[in-house]
Amino acid sequence: MFMCVKQSSAQSVLQVEAKINSLIKKMTLEEKVRMLHANSSFTSAGVPRLGIPELVMSDGPHGVRVEHGRGWNRVENANDSGTYLPVGIALASTWNKALGLEYGKVLGSEAKYRGKNIILGPGINIMRTPLNGRNFEYLSEDPYLISQMVIGYIKGVQSEGVSACVKHFAANNQEVDRNRVDVQMDERTLREIYLPGFKAAIMDAGANSIMGAYNKFRGQYASHNDYLINTILKGEWKFKGAVISDWGAVHNTMEALTNGTDIEMGTDIGTLAKFPYPKFYLGDTVVALVKRGDVKEAVIDDKVRRILRVMFASSSFAKTGAGVYGSEEHIATAKKVAQESIVLLKNENNILPLTSSTKKIAVIGANASRKNAMGGGSSQVLPLYEVTPLQGLKKIAPNVSFQFVQGYIIERNAIATPAMIDEAVEAAKNADVAIVVGGWTHGYNYSKWSDNAYDAEDADKPDMNMPFGQDALIKAVVKANPNTIVVLVGGGPIDMTEWIDNTKGILSMWYNGMEGGNALAEVIFGKINPSGKLTVTFPKKLADAPAHKLGEFPGKNNVAVYKEGIFVGYRYFDTYKIAPQFAFGHGLSYTSFSYTNLKITKNTAGEIVAAFTITNTGKVSGAETAQLYIQKPNSTITRADKELKGFEKVFLKPGQAKTVSIALAQNAFQYYDENKKAWATERGLYNILVGSSSANILLSQSVTQ
Ligand code: BGC
Repeated sequence: MFMCVKQSSAQSVLQVEAKINSLIKKMTLEEKVRMLHANSSFTSAGVPRLGIPELVMSDGPHGVRVEHGRGWNRVENANDSGTYLPVGIALASTWNKALGLEYGKVLGSEAKYRGKNIILGPGINIMRTPLNGRNFEYLSEDPYLISQMVIGYIKGVQSEGVSACVKHFAANNQEVDRNRVDVQMDERTLREIYLPGFKAAIMDAGANSIMGAYNKFRGQYASHNDYLINTILKGEWKFKGAVISDWGAVHNTMEALTNGTDIEMGTDIGTLAKFPYPKFYLGDTVVALVKRGDVKEAVIDDKVRRILRVMFASSSFAKTGAGVYGSEEHIATAKKVAQESIVLLKNENNILPLTSSTKKIAVIGANASRKNAMGGGSSQVLPLYEVTPLQGLKKIAPNVSFQFVQGYIIERNAIATPAMIDEAVEAAKNADVAIVVGGWTHGYNYSKWSDNAYDAEDADKPDMNMPFGQDALIKAVVKANPNTIVVLVGGGPIDMTEWIDNTKGILSMWYNGMEGGNALAEVIFGKINPSGKLTVTFPKKLADAPAHKLGEFPGKNNVAVYKEGIFVGYRYFDTYKIAPQFAFGHGLSYTSFSYTNLKITKNTAGEIVAAFTITNTGKVSGAETAQLYIQKPNSTITRADKELKGFEKVFLKPGQAKTVSIALAQNAFQYYDENKKAWATERGLYNILVGSSSANILLSQSVTQ
């Protein structure tokens, strides 16, 4: 469903459609075609004669990108430093739907301030492999969690009169060979795993635009894919907004014209499309084709109509407010997301939080003083400031003596030298506690962003191992001081097998935005009780991850067959009983929670309602995300051991209890029937499982469907 934010009533929808039709009538063919392709790095043309402005876009997805003007060089002295929000995986790790909305509002407001009509986000591709260089931008391995988190984000952005552009549609799950890989998967996998997030973005959140992906899907480029765009998006989902190609993702004029691409974006000076804008596939050629009668002008009108709908929905015509940039309120949202996103993975002997008896801390690792906002590729953001972990720690504990040592060098193939390890060991020995800040990194250099980067666009990680010789470093530090805490920076799973058994405390902080260092310090010193939970399974070894186990990453001869099918993430680990390092949904707290009293009823709408009580049984306030999974015992069809179908985050004071109630609509039990090409419900007994992670089920009861 297309949602025009400013048009609440059916009447105003009709009025806008009438205005659009009247504009189209006045346009020449040439003017229409100019709207179908880029005319600078982030704009497509308007029709000044008719008062139609350019359509102005910006990345996305976790801040408004630095200003590139009309080309690709950064504009000097542009007023473009604003709020750097935690990245997508961090937002999702909060499991807090309300924060998705707040996050979206910050983006929408800042995009509006910067004169952008479209923010190129959210990025919601499924985390199929731990190696995907862009997992940090994405949300999860689970389609239900993505669907829930994406709705708030999009509604938030669009409530500010800016359009969201959900990306990358679809099956863009690797960066290696992203411009050519042909993704093959069965229909059930497509429907159950790879599409639900996009469907929710369009049908539940009403995203005004969507970005076609670089890769091919079943032999045809995704940005002009008949099945994905015509049949599903514009057909089944009745999408009325604009399909924008990824930059340089269009490869064929006729396919783009007939298969639903509405705007061809790209660059005329880069390597992707080495020709000037009018020579784009949706450029002058289209004018000639229509004039010759080979293509009906109605095809062009449909595209222009969709673009104009985005413009009306995005307040392109009527600036409704200036937006706000880098405000205290926006920064407070960035901080709140950061605080709730940090995941306490391990906390043996309650090593965390640190107490006031901690007088000397060794902070080890180049990531402790590294800034990340400008890394990673197109999602780069210039923040007003970025608090590093080291700065955050020093600020929160002015009376503690900190010794910082670099530990390792951030450079491809560099390793922690023996001298660096010795220095770290010395520092650890002399301290009460050692905090190693390690993990991955983004690249810095805009034009060569993947050089030193592991979480970056256009490159996947080479493996799941700790880079820069960090395993050896951590092992030595843990040996020197058993009170060691490892903080992981990065966009997803990393192999910890070398040191995890002897390491008492482990936190994951992602790339946590401009307030990331402060949020981390607050968690470490117990000012904030961690409440983040993993949105992706952390395997012990890369070879345990299904796509890798089956040898289907990154594909062969530019074809990637998703042989694991629906068994992505925990669906695979739980069904095949492979113990992960940390399960999907895992995340510890400084307090404890009990789950009791599961009651299943039916509401008047015929939905199954699961109600249960969560009690904070510990000594400090904290938040818990209860997760509800369904399980079909003895299924006659292939099914995952369990599937997430509901979750709720509750905030509880010590001793406080709350009843959580989760309603399951009929579609929660459905699977996609390949033969019938339709959703179907298998009758019989289902288990309703409630727990604190996919591996820690605490309550269960059966229902019949
Ligand atoms: C990325 C998109 C991004 C676009 C514009 C592409 O390379 O895949 O996510 O929005 O560039 O910067």
